[in-house]
Amino acid sequence: MIKVKNRKILLLPGDGIGPEVVNEVKKIIEWFNKNKSLDFKIDEGLVGGASYDKHKNPITDEVFYKALESEAVILGAVGGPKYDNLEFSKRPERALLKLRKELKLFANLRPAICFKQLVDASSLKPEIISGLDIMIVRELTGGIYFGEPRGIVPIENGERKGTNTHTYTTSEIHRVARVAFELAKKRKNTVTSCEKSNVMEAGMLWREEVQALRDKEFKKVELKHMLADNCAMQLVKDPKQFDVILTDNLFGDLLSDIAAMLTGSLGMLPSASLGIVNANGKRAAMYEPVHGSAPDITGQGKANPLAMIMSFAMMLRYSFDMNEDSNLIEQAVQNVLSKGLRTADIKQGSENAISTQEMGKAVISELTILLGK
Ligand code: IPM
Ligand code: MG
Repeated sequence: MIKVKNRKILLLPGDGIGPEVVNEVKKIIEWFNKNKSLDFKIDEGLVGGASYDKHKNPITDEVFYKALESEAVILGAVGGPKYDNLEFSKRPERALLKLRKELKLFANLRPAICFKQLVDASSLKPEIISGLDIMIVRELTGGIYFGEPRGIVPIENGERKGTNTHTYTTSEIHRVARVAFELAKKRKNTVTSCEKSNVMEAGMLWREEVQALRDKEFKKVELKHMLADNCAMQLVKDPKQFDVILTDNLFGDLLSDIAAMLTGSLGMLPSASLGIVNANGKRAAMYEPVHGSAPDITGQGKANPLAMIMSFAMMLRYSFDMNEDSNLIEQAVQNVLSKGLRTADIKQGSENAISTQEMGKAVISELTILLGK
């Protein structure tokens, strides 16, 4: 068999359950190398608290440059209570935000799909969520996460003032909106754009610019505007009304957590963060589960690796154009769920829960069956 390509992937397991779920993805990558004649080259680095513990820095230059040079980054999770009192610039989350900003990963894709096997795992009624398939496109390098001025300063009377700034420019809005419209064309052709144009000028601009881009370049895509607070409510009330949701960095953070719970568990939601396409046609990309480091279950083998595994499936799709292989993983995940295998977060009542490693292994067995080997 011919080795097709030499693809460089950087694994950044991070903190908490990050290393546990990344470990399962590593086995899947090895499975692909062996069984599909691929040549993924894996490198690894410390990030977040794990990096702070060793280097007093949430991400070293060495790891940062490795990320710049790799074709795709897989990140587990960062953060944990141990680091809560660190000075702001040393906090684990700064590493994640630096990677997003410096790799210019402006479009964060968070698909919320309710697998039919899990319709009872959600806290919502089955009829509300069965068949749910939403794609949230969250702007990831702008808005209040990065705006200047920011900081905490002393003011009169011994008080202090904290400031963060929410800004967006036309081009920042257009480039992420373009991603949402392009995705919608391959789905149900509808984008719901969410902001708070009733109270924020930047929200007003967002609404106008998204509309302008649609009118100019995507006339066939249906565009709806919705205030972000209403969107939060509608997601719980009638989530199936949505196809693609386009929103800014902060609202996207919140709305994607809500969407995640519709699918039954945060442990099921993958994500892809995509950058600009550079001169040689490549785009930087990072893939991470939407869930965090989950310190409460760290080291117990309870974490659900499926969000991480499906983030790898997104990597195959968006970084390497390997749609068939991406589908193969998603199918394997569905088959595992159909067999009733559940980690603790998605099990019902008296069902038995399997461990992180057992779930990873079950996905690999299904991959092998699907491949007919
Ligand atoms: C997410 C997370 C991050 C964010 C944190 C860990 C900085 O909540 O990816 O949704 O706020 O973006
Ligand atoms: Mg979040």
